Amino acid sequence: DALSQDELKRIAAHRAVEQVESGMVLGLGTGSTAAHALDRIGDLLRGGALWDVVGIPTSEWAAARAAAAGIPLTNLNVHPVVDLSIDGADEVDPFLNLVKGRGGSLLREKMVEGASRRFVVIVDESKLVPRLGGSGLAIPVEVIPFGSALTLRRLHSLFDGVPGFNLKLRTATTNAKASAFDEDDPELDPFVTDNKNYIVDLFFENGIIGDLNSISDEILRITGVVEHGMFLGLATSVIVARKDGVVMMDN
Ligand code: A5P
Repeated sequence: DALSQDELKRIAAHRAVEQVESGMVLGLGTGSTAAHALDRIGDLLRGGALWDVVGIPTSEWAAARAAAAGIPLTNLNVHPVVDLSIDGADEVDPFLNLVKGRGGSLLREKMVEGASRRFVVIVDESKLVPRLGGSGLAIPVEVIPFGSALTLRRLHSLFDGVPGFNLKLRTATTNAKASAFDEDDPELDPFVTDNKNYIVDLFFENGIIGDLNSISDEILRITGVVEHGMFLGLATSVIVARKDGVVMMDN
């Protein structure tokens, strides 16, 4: 009988947790897949199979979930080098580039995972894509609220002329009123990140085409942009749980 998507997420997560060793500093991921990893690490600590592990949460959500699981928490200032990070992703391309942040966290994830010796990504097979953004879903960009309408316009100009390109400010309600947005209009109720920033979602009908590193640089060069959800060359390996078994993708 077919495994449910959540069972696949759990299988990938448990496989990744096999790489956790006592004494490690861990990066603790965010989302429904990472949740299985956090719970599993908590169980192993409680059962005495693991000890002396500390975790750096990649979001307020991860901090709460890890605390509930009984994982001792620390931060990047105390532990600037992370042994192993385990996190989910929204998309994985054949080169192990990722899209993250559709759940709202990406900045702390990129900081923690970028500071990790090893970053293991856990996904079910639905996350594999030939090209980032190709499923027509968002590539998130975190921006500071100040002047965010201007930042949104600059992001718009950057992709001017790209067929099928669109963008909008993410709202707290799913019913986004989108483009003509006024940062002082409380009715728009933008989604607010853990870092008190906003998110602009970029949409590419056929996925994001071109040299991803230069596109990344161009996005980051816009004043007001804090970070984006493309994780390029950061993953050490990806554990993919498929209905017919687990597959490892390595860099
Ligand atoms: C959070 O914003 C993301 O970066 C998550 O890592 C991503 O959304 C994966 O979440 P799921 O495991 O719930 O799909």
